[in-house]
Amino acid sequence: MFLRNKKVFKGNFFHAPTYGKAEYLEKTLIVVNEKGIIEKVLLQSNPAYQSVLLESKADNSLVDFGEKFILPGFVDLHIHAPQWPQAGVALDEPLNVWLDECTFPLEAKYKDVTFAKKVYTDLIRQLLNRGTTTAVYFATQHLESSIELAKISALMGQRALVGKVAMDNPEQTHDYYRDESSEQAIADTEAFIIRVRELAKNVIQGVYPVVTPRFVPSCTDETLRGLGILAQKYDTYVQTHCSEGQWEHGYVLDRYGKRDADVLADFGLVTNKSIMDHCNFVNDHDGELFAKYGTAIAHCPISNAYFADGVLPVNRLKKQGVKVGLGTDISGGFSPSLYDNIKQAVISSRMLTDGVDVTIEQGKRGVPNSRVSVLEAFYLATRGGGEALNLPVGLFEEGQIFDVQVLNPNQSGNSLPGFDLYTEPLSRLAKLLYLSTPANITEVWVQGNKVK
Ligand code: GUN
Ligand code: FE
Repeated sequence: MFLRNKKVFKGNFFHAPTYGKAEYLEKTLIVVNEKGIIEKVLLQSNPAYQSVLLESKADNSLVDFGEKFILPGFVDLHIHAPQWPQAGVALDEPLNVWLDECTFPLEAKYKDVTFAKKVYTDLIRQLLNRGTTTAVYFATQHLESSIELAKISALMGQRALVGKVAMDNPEQTHDYYRDESSEQAIADTEAFIIRVRELAKNVIQGVYPVVTPRFVPSCTDETLRGLGILAQKYDTYVQTHCSEGQWEHGYVLDRYGKRDADVLADFGLVTNKSIMDHCNFVNDHDGELFAKYGTAIAHCPISNAYFADGVLPVNRLKKQGVKVGLGTDISGGFSPSLYDNIKQAVISSRMLTDGVDVTIEQGKRGVPNSRVSVLEAFYLATRGGGEALNLPVGLFEEGQIFDVQVLNPNQSGNSLPGFDLYTEPLSRLAKLLYLSTPANITEVWVQGNKVK
């Protein structure tokens, strides 16, 4: 472990302790220990405030963010690192055509580790620049370049959860890009887990292996079963696409006579460390199953609009007790920004509430109570992600990890309109979420370490 010096951060912090409620901590001091963990949060009213401030000035441990605003670092709960070069391409195709004609040929190139290094380094830089301090990655089928993704994130200071993708079903994959056999898919996944765990010993912000069946169609039963056993043996995270779109959901029903959630549970892949991606087609039964197991959903609203023509019923699932976070799904989603996905989560939910059929009277169309507010979407991108991963991130509280993005609303190049007119803190937070670009994010810190 490379320990940092203990630091005291002073600034104007926003966080969302509960779904839909945000707090503003003005000119607050946050004491962060050598491991990057928050030891104390001192409001101006705290009797110890002045002495801690004076001491930290005297011993040079004060980091003063001045008039800027600080948000928790974002958690991207679902992103395909190798698809970064094709962001914005071929989004008019249906998912299965896009996979076959665009995505699999691109992912096959990552056999070349040099190519992988170049793409992964650029992607992680761009994500950090946008305030994403934790990311849950799909890599590719290749063991070595998947390890490289874990190494690069470790080096660049981003917290990463990385999966070597398992895909061995000859009927739904191509000769040029698949695991040679079920044995190989399982053995490579096990080797990946062991090597990433070894790497993690020297990474203070964390790097974690994730058992990653691409989705049910691309895996044989033997592989799904073997991966479930590995997830249990090593107590790892699991991620997979679940009930994402009509074609895939229908394929699983045809193959097993069961829904995705039940099939994945049968193979031991639904656990309290599992992340189910997309989930547009989940019903109440699936929601109950996820709530019972403590399984999380990665909501990818931009991608869902394109590939599923769908809107995840976030509020229904939250009400059932399912953990939900936000993902970009690069490159099913074209944007690497969780700011863009926060906005889309809000916008898409309006379509679910009120639909777009204006010939039906407003209030009578769509699904009641399904609107997601900007503060709720902010929660999903921060604490929701932390909850999904069972990690203490997303809040400014004692015991949480200090991951932050520092925002300057008056940055030249993107000065936020009317910011100084709207002094009410939550209006300012809404402006920061709706209007900030990477230009406004002047610093990013992960686990008490400056990475931008
Ligand atoms: N289902 C299987 N693979 C993929 C993928 O790469 N992207 C998305 N959005 N869905 C998938
Ligand atoms: Fe995806």
